[in-house]
Amino acid sequence: MYEAKPLNYDYNFLEPIISSRTLTIHYNNHYLNYLNKLNKLLKENNYNFRYSKEELFNHIDEFPLNVRDDILFNLGGVVNHELYFSSLGKNEINGKLEQKIKEKYGSFDNFKEEFIKKANQLVGSGYTFLVMDKNGDLNIMNMSNQESPYIYGMIPILALDLWEHAYYLDYQSNRSLYIKNFFQIIDFEQVNNLYEKNL
Ligand SMILES: [Fe+2]
Repeated sequence: MYEAKPLNYDYNFLEPIISSRTLTIHYNNHYLNYLNKLNKLLKENNYNFRYSKEELFNHIDEFPLNVRDDILFNLGGVVNHELYFSSLGKNEINGKLEQKIKEKYGSFDNFKEEFIKKANQLVGSGYTFLVMDKNGDLNIMNMSNQESPYIYGMIPILALDLWEHAYYLDYQSNRSLYIKNFFQIIDFEQVNNLYEKNL
């Protein structure tokens, strides 16, 4: 069985940007439902949990064709949510990621502007990710539903959940304000740690 990854903070820590109610429902209902469905599917297919969740994306060919899309959807739902929740917090940009962002985008403000622009372009449900490749290069990309950048050989290091359940109770249809406010509640220390770990 894959275990749930606990939150690094209390449910009310991100208020008023994300309410305690939204976070409670998001973590306990949405995220844990994906985890339960994934574990059930994997057990039904006699999987012995020998890979990490992230590694499993590259071993999907070990399962029968007719269950692969279901496994990928729920695995994405688990891994994407874990990254989103761990991306949230209140620590400023630092380390090698700060240097790389300045090198690639000119300044942190330019990066922020690019990320916000990309997120606003997403149609339907999905995520905006900051991803890195094996050489440490960065890219901002949108993925639909529970698709994962791991499928495309990239490592996601920051995730913004743009499904309505992530913001609708707090922002209703004002998704662009949720996207803008997201930048006040990012744990960039955690994002940098992921970046440096994968260099
Ligand atoms: Fe979500």
